[in-house]
Amino acid sequence: MRKTAIIYATALCLTTATGAAQALTPIEQLGKDIFFDPNLSFNANQACAACHSPGVGWTGPDPAINATGAVYEGSIAGRFGNRKPPSSAYATFSPTLHYVMERREALFIGGNFWDGRATGEKLGKPAADQAQGPFLNPLEHALSASADVVSEVCVSSYADLFQQVWGPDVCDPDKVAAAFDNIARSIAAFEASPESNAFTSKYDYYLKGLARLTREERKGLILFKTKGRCANCHVLDRGPNGEPPLLTDFTYENLGVPRNPENPFYTQTDFNPLGDSWIDLGLGGFLASREDYQQFAAANDGKQKVPTLRNVDKRPHEGFVKAYGHNGYFKSLKGIVHFYNTRDVKPVCADPFTTEADALAQNCWPAPEVPENVNIRELGNLHLTEDQEDAIVTFLKTLSDGYQP
Ligand code: HEC
Ligand code: HEC
Repeated sequence: MRKTAIIYATALCLTTATGAAQALTPIEQLGKDIFFDPNLSFNANQACAACHSPGVGWTGPDPAINATGAVYEGSIAGRFGNRKPPSSAYATFSPTLHYVMERREALFIGGNFWDGRATGEKLGKPAADQAQGPFLNPLEHALSASADVVSEVCVSSYADLFQQVWGPDVCDPDKVAAAFDNIARSIAAFEASPESNAFTSKYDYYLKGLARLTREERKGLILFKTKGRCANCHVLDRGPNGEPPLLTDFTYENLGVPRNPENPFYTQTDFNPLGDSWIDLGLGGFLASREDYQQFAAANDGKQKVPTLRNVDKRPHEGFVKAYGHNGYFKSLKGIVHFYNTRDVKPVCADPFTTEADALAQNCWPAPEVPENVNIRELGNLHLTEDQEDAIVTFLKTLSDGYQP
C-alpha cells in the first residue's frame, strides 16, 4: 500500500444513531429476495447466500469445506471454482478499477473479486458488474443464459416487486439484456444497504464513544497500527466521505500465501487442464487479458485484493472453522497473523503443497504460490511476541457486526 488518496465511488449507507438497522427500500428488498433465491441456479439449489451467509460474515457457511479446500461446490455437483468466497458485504465501497502512477509504477485500486475483474466499467459499479458473474458461471449457479435468470425472476414470488421497481415492461422477452442489468443493480443495492453494510461492530461503537475496548483489545489495536503494520493496507482512517473505516484500501498485494493443497480446483480436469501446476496469478492474470492493461500484468502477478477485515471473526459459534486468504490456506486468525509475523523467519517447507496444520507442525512455511512481487517491506518478519499476536487476534474480534453496546 502506498499513500495515495482513494476516491470512493459509492454513496454512504449508515445506520441510525442508535445503530438499529433501517427498513430496506424497495430496490434493496428486491435485491435481497434475489440474493437469497435458490431457484436462480441450474438445479434450483444455490442462492448467492450459499457462499455468502450473513451469520458467517457474508462468506462460506460450511465449516468442513472451510477446514479443507475452502472452495464451494456450484449448483452442479462435482464442479468447483478456484477461490475462497470473500465477504460480499462492504464490497460496494470499492471504486471502479483504475490505476494511478506512483514511482513509475501503476498502482491498481478498486474492482470486485480477488483479482478485480468485476471492474465496474459495464454498469458503473463493480458490485453490479460482479453480480452478473455467478449466475452464468458454470462452476457456480451454472445457468446457460441471462434470459434464464430473467425468466426465473419474472415467475418468482417477488416478481411484482421486480415490476414495481423497474417498470411494468421489465419482463418483456425482447428486453432481456436490460432486465438482467437491473437484476444486477438490485443485488448491488442490497449489498450497499444497512443490512449488508451494518457498521455495528464493537469497534464502531467504540469509535462513537458508546463502547469501551478491553485492555487486550486496545493493545491489539495499537499493535495493528504500529508494529504489526496491518493498518497500512487494512486502513483504520475514515474514508474521504466520512464513512467509518473499511479496513481495506482496495489495493492489491502479493503476501506470498502458499498454495492450498486441498483446493479442489487442482483435480477439476475439465476446467483446469493444468492440474497441480495451475497457479493463481490474481490481478496480473486479469490484467494480461486486457489489451490496455497487458503492459502492467507481470508486475502484478500474484497480487490479490486487500480484503476488508470487517466480520473476519463473525461465526455461528466458537470453534466454527473459517478460512482466510484468497485460497483459504489459513484456518484461523492466529494462523494468518503468525504467517505475517514469521513468513521470512521460518525455513521453507520441503514440499510446496503443505497444509497450514502440517506447516505449523513442521515449523516451516511453504514457498509462495507466486514468488514474483512478494511484499517483503511490510510483512514477513514483524518481531511480534506470541502475546502480541494474540492481542491482534483479540482486536480482530471487535470487528464483527451485531454487537450490542
Ligand atoms: C459457489 C459459491 C458462490 C456463489 C453461489 C456465489 N459466490 Fe460470490 N464469490 C464466490 C467466490 C469464490 C468469489 C471470489 C471469486 C474470485 O475472486 O475469482 C466471490 C466473490 C464475490 C464478491 C466480491 C467481493 C469483493 O470484495 O470483491 C461479491 C460481491 C459476491 N461474490 C457476491 C455474490 C452474489 C451477488 C452472488 C449471487 C448472484 C454470488 N456471489 C454467488 C463464491 C460464490
Ligand atoms: C501490504 C498490505 C497488507 C498488510 C500490511 C496486511 N495485510 Fe492482511 N491482507 C492483505 C491482502 C492482499 C490479503 C489477501 C491476500 C491473499 O489472500 O493472497 C490480506 C488478507 C488478510 C486476512 C484474510 C481475510 C480474508 O477474508 O480472507 C486477514 C485476517 C488479514 N489480512 C489480517 C491482517 C493483519 C492482522 C495484518 C497485520 C499483522 C495484516 N493483515 C497486514 C494485505 C495486507
